[in-house]
Amino acid sequence: MRRSVVRGIGSYLPAKAVTNNDLAAIVDTSDEWIVERTGIRQRHIAAEGETTCDLAVAAARAALDNAGMSAADIDLIVLATSTPDNTFPATATSVQAALGMTHGAAFDVQAVCSGFVYALSVADAMLKAGTAERALVIGAETFSRILDWSDRTTCVLFGDGAGALVLEAQEGEGTLDDRGVLATKLHSDGRYKDKLYVDGGPSSTKTVGYLRMEGREVFKHAVVNIASVMAETLEMVGMSADQVDWVVPHQANKRILDSTAKRFGISEDKVVLTVDRHGNTSAASIPLALDVAVKDGRIKKGDVILMEAMGGGFTWGAALVRW
Ligand code: UT7
Repeated sequence: MRRSVVRGIGSYLPAKAVTNNDLAAIVDTSDEWIVERTGIRQRHIAAEGETTCDLAVAAARAALDNAGMSAADIDLIVLATSTPDNTFPATATSVQAALGMTHGAAFDVQAVCSGFVYALSVADAMLKAGTAERALVIGAETFSRILDWSDRTTCVLFGDGAGALVLEAQEGEGTLDDRGVLATKLHSDGRYKDKLYVDGGPSSTKTVGYLRMEGREVFKHAVVNIASVMAETLEMVGMSADQVDWVVPHQANKRILDSTAKRFGISEDKVVLTVDRHGNTSAASIPLALDVAVKDGRIKKGDVILMEAMGGGFTWGAALVRW
C-alpha cells in the first residue's frame, strides 16, 4: 500500500514580533485581557512588501533542506492559504517559479484555518493514487493584510507565518505501524459561513475586505467539532486516544485547546502549544507548531501525531500521521 511519508519539515516567521502591549497602544485592549482570553503573548507580522509567497518559499526551502532534497525532486505543490498574493494565479505557482520548478503541478487550497489539514488530505490522496511522487504541502498566511486594525475583537488574534512538509510516496505494509499519513477526515458546513468571513472579494465587492468574526459562536462550535473529528479519525483506523503521542492542533486560542484536550481525554502536556508565540496564523499554524516540536525533540520518528483544525466556512478536519 502506498503511504505518504513525511521526509522533511520547515517553517518561517517574519522577523517582526508584535507584543500585546504594542497592540494596546493602537486599540483599547490590554496584555492581561489577551493572555487570559486567548493565551497569546505575541505574533509575527510580515514586513512591508513581504508576501505570502515569500513566507511560503522560505518555509519550503527549509523543508527541502531538512529532507535533503531539491525542488527537482518535487512534482506537486499544494499550498493552503486564504491570503494569496493575488486573486490569481495561485500563490502555489509563484512558489513553484521561485523554487525554479518548471515541472509538476502546483495549486492552492482554500479552507481558511483548516487549510493545512485539507491540503495534507488532498496531497495524500494524490500520492496514494500515483498522481505524484513527492509533494510540498505548505500553509502560508499574511492575515495582517486582511485585519481591521481598529477592531480589537479580531486584530489581536492573528499573525503571519508559513510552514511546509515534504511528503514522499513509499510502499508500506498497510498496517498502523507504517510511517506516513494513516487517515484524514474533512468536514464543512456552509450554513455557518457568516460567523467567520472576509467582507470583500473580487466577485462581490471588487475589494479585498477585512476579517469579521463572531468569536463566541466560533468558539462554541470549535470545541465540539474538533473533539468529534479527532475521535472520528481515530475510529477510521481503530486507534484509541492513548495511542496518540502528540496532538498538534490549529492554534486559535489556548482555551479552545484546553477544552478540546479535556473533551477528547488527552493530557494537556501531549498538546503542542505555540499560540502564545505565534498567535493564530490560520493555515500556517499546524506546520509551524509541528516544526517547533520536531526541532525541540518532542516529536520523533515513529510517533503518532494527530493534527486538527477548525475555521471559516465552517470547515474542520483532522489528520493522523505516523512521523
Ligand atoms: O481560527 C479560526 C477559528 N477561530 C477561533 O477559533 C476563535 C474563536 N473565538 C475565540 O477565541 C474567542 O471567542 C475570542 C478570543 C475571539 C473572544 O473571547 P471571548 O471570551 O469569547 O470574549 P467575547 O467576545 O465574549 O468578549 C468579552 C468582552 C466583550 O466586552 P463586553 O461586551 O462583555 O463588555 C468584548 O467587547 O471582551 C471585550 N473584548 C475585548 N476587551 C479587551 C473583545 N476583544 C477585546 C480585546 N481587548 N482585544
